[in-house]
Amino acid sequence: MQEKQTNLSKVITGETMLSDEILKYLKETLPPDLFSHSAGVARTARALAGGTGCDPNQAELAGWLHDCARHLPPNDLLALARTHNIEVDKFSHRHPVLLHAPVGAALAKHLGVTNKDILAAIRHHTLGAPQMPLTARVIYLADKIEPGRDYQGVENIRLAAEKNFHAGLLAAAAQTITYTVSRKQAIHPMTVAFWNWLVDIPD
Ligand SMILES: [Fe+2]
Ligand SMILES: [Fe+2]
Repeated sequence: MQEKQTNLSKVITGETMLSDEILKYLKETLPPDLFSHSAGVARTARALAGGTGCDPNQAELAGWLHDCARHLPPNDLLALARTHNIEVDKFSHRHPVLLHAPVGAALAKHLGVTNKDILAAIRHHTLGAPQMPLTARVIYLADKIEPGRDYQGVENIRLAAEKNFHAGLLAAAAQTITYTVSRKQAIHPMTVAFWNWLVDIPD
């Protein structure tokens, strides 16, 4: 455990907060179910990273941090978005929970994380984004399939991810879009752009 934490601290640059301090912060701040989801995403991201060329330490830290703002109520998310100059579009006005991703990236920065790929992974883990870095793609998929996840279709995504990373990523994005359509809700333009980019990436 000690060695793992030392490894994690190496991927934080600039004004560093040691990883054990970040873990302590998350343990004290997140509700237990969210902490255990974050641990699951961190473990899954590390495992997925191995086959993709992504730095496993970077993936694990991004996994730990990706939902660091998920527990905040809508009004706090809206206020923090204003404080950090984060755009609140009509989707986020309607569903402020969407802001937990960009607000989470701002909070992670505040915790001392300056690695651009980790911050992008946190920022884009809900909607996706075209050209998002490998670490962000790893977190997007890990978030959908960590062992604590239980929803209709999750097994299909896990099976696709076992075949290869890109197949898993496509299955995860497709499931999200299909679910949104099945509920007759609008698809965020960023998710459409993410999907259109994703289908053109060679395996
Ligand atoms: Fe999230
Ligand atoms: Fe999550």
